[in-house]
Amino acid sequence: MAEPDAVQTFENGLAEIRGAYAEALRAARSEPELRLINGRYVGPQGELTKLLKLMPKLPGEQRRELGQAANALKQEIQSTFDEALQSIFRGAREAELNGPPLDVTLPGRWQMPGRLHPITRVRNEVLDIFVSLGFDIADGPEVELYENCFDKLGFPPDHPATDEQDTFFIGATGSRNAESVLLRTQTSTIQIREMMKREPPLAIVSPGAVYRRDDDATHSPMFFQLEGFLVDEDVTFAELKGVLTLFLRRLFDEHIAVRFRASYFPFVEPGGEVDMSCVFCRAWEGDRARTAQCRVCKGTGWMEILGCGMIHPVVFENVGYDAEKYTGFAFGMGLDRIAMLKYGIPNIKLLYENDVRFLSQF
Ligand code: PHE
Repeated sequence: MAEPDAVQTFENGLAEIRGAYAEALRAARSEPELRLINGRYVGPQGELTKLLKLMPKLPGEQRRELGQAANALKQEIQSTFDEALQSIFRGAREAELNGPPLDVTLPGRWQMPGRLHPITRVRNEVLDIFVSLGFDIADGPEVELYENCFDKLGFPPDHPATDEQDTFFIGATGSRNAESVLLRTQTSTIQIREMMKREPPLAIVSPGAVYRRDDDATHSPMFFQLEGFLVDEDVTFAELKGVLTLFLRRLFDEHIAVRFRASYFPFVEPGGEVDMSCVFCRAWEGDRARTAQCRVCKGTGWMEILGCGMIHPVVFENVGYDAEKYTGFAFGMGLDRIAMLKYGIPNIKLLYENDVRFLSQF
């Protein structure tokens, strides 16, 4: 049934929409704004769409005429919209052309590339050499039991060597009994941990941080060591000499000489320290005048590089190995010291200050 007011409502609606649309569009400044406004009139919920739904209520005679009027408005809206859109595009293009020029020759923003820390580099090089010789890599905790750090390695209670490795105790007591917890002073703890876990034959290297109450140009309270050890039947000092000589020649220079001096560590017997030809004055080249002036080896032509020895039978007993059946060797070195020697770094503190001016030199 046609409603008498429907024609009026429809005609008024068309007129209102025509006026309101044009005005709303003039205020739009961007394409999204424009599309939003457009949707408010001709979108699925738009004013004109709603109005068109009234068509069936119009009396038959006027329906055709009003339908044409509505279509005309729709087209009008479409072309107003298109024009407004073009004008926004033109405006943007013009702003671009008249704005400040884009200088494509400006250099890009530079990102400083990161690189490996000298200690990490040295550690990787050292590990590569030992892995190529068949050693496995092991890891262990920095927070340790006193027992693993000293007792099981054959340090007698109150041995002066434990003073040399005075450290940081964790917890209130600070006392020295087997269960005391401390920051490990040496990676030799790995010998105990790995031997308690595994049976010979084994060949293991283990790098890691250690802690001591030491602080000067060549000592830092935290530094890095690398432990190595090999256990099997019939291992002799000859194997120890062979492995370490080959290792040092690969790491520093194939020409260096290596010498073994007797020394003491509770967990090895015999124990030794290893010296190698000074790599600063290249002592092996035999230029005596140059070596005489070398501040690193103090004219001796030698520098101390690591500690080593044949694993003491008492260590084997402490980890449950048959000391009659097995022999083995162990060695330990400071990775910081190796980095300092390899790169000519005068002060260990430089390695821990994280100054990019220093670190970017390696
Ligand atoms: N752990 C010893 C130290 O820290 C080094 C070492 C390791 C010596 C293995 C001999 C054998 O001084």
